Amino acid sequence: MPLINRNFVDPSDFTLDELKHVVNLGLKMYDNPMKYADTCKGKILGTLFYEPSTRTRLSFESAMLRLGGTILGFSDANTTSAKKGESIADTVRVLDDYADILVMRHPREGAPKLASQYSSVPLVNAGDGGHQHPTQTLTDLTTIQYYKGAVKNLKVAFCGDLLFGRTVHSLLKTLSRFPNIEFTLISPPELRIPNHLKIDIASNFNVKILETESLEGCISTLDVLYMTRIQKERFFNEEEYLKLRDVYILDQNKLTHAKDDLLIMHPLPRVNEISYDVDNDPRSKYFDQAKLGVYARMALISLLLGVCE
Ligand code: NCD
Repeated sequence: MPLINRNFVDPSDFTLDELKHVVNLGLKMYDNPMKYADTCKGKILGTLFYEPSTRTRLSFESAMLRLGGTILGFSDANTTSAKKGESIADTVRVLDDYADILVMRHPREGAPKLASQYSSVPLVNAGDGGHQHPTQTLTDLTTIQYYKGAVKNLKVAFCGDLLFGRTVHSLLKTLSRFPNIEFTLISPPELRIPNHLKIDIASNFNVKILETESLEGCISTLDVLYMTRIQKERFFNEEEYLKLRDVYILDQNKLTHAKDDLLIMHPLPRVNEISYDVDNDPRSKYFDQAKLGVYARMALISLLLGVCE
């Protein structure tokens, strides 16, 4: 698979076979991590985080360390020359000499795409504004593959903030490329998925999309339920956020109507949308999902650096 030296800014940068290849390698690494413990020896991963992150940054760092490589980077752009007005292009032109692969998160949509045009090493988008989150999509595909055996023939629901949730945008569009996936989009009218995305999916992929406001009304039909946080930081006013904040709360009561093998996912962080009593339900896999994210990122790093096939 010729992934060496490629960027991963949008999931559509990779073909379906390339995405599956990353997922399968990640699962091999999960089964036998010691086999890969030295594959990135001598390589450096640079993390450029202009926006808060816990899992994405630390799972990338954990991934590189587990591969025997080293890491450098920043998690607060206020401590960097961005504060003095340095452009992304200039920062990247320098940091691509300091690291062999760069991972960037930025509040502005398109910033990692721009950065990739100036980087001489592979650049990975770790989330750009409300736009895309391609490595969360790899994590999510890996989780579905692991728990459902294959990414096909599934009824998948996304619930919550479908307007601003970048994990939803990336995964929804990517899943549309897999065989026979039906979607239920559960949101209040104010937080429906962006129209351009719906049109894009409907015109390019032959998929069924049902939109509803009711989680209770459809939960019994689902194979995968992807819960999301209401994206407070992307709202224009606090009042609107407060109105919508607790619109969906998954609890044991709602789950009594769900299938026994429902897969409950969440990219995390959780705020109020999954009640704590759901954590012990065997169908809840969001913490396992975060764990699998390390291995999905190990696979991605290894393939972009060309140290694994
Ligand atoms: C998500 C993100 O940053 O978009 N978190 C993550 O990377 N796992 C989801 C979120 O912040 O709600």
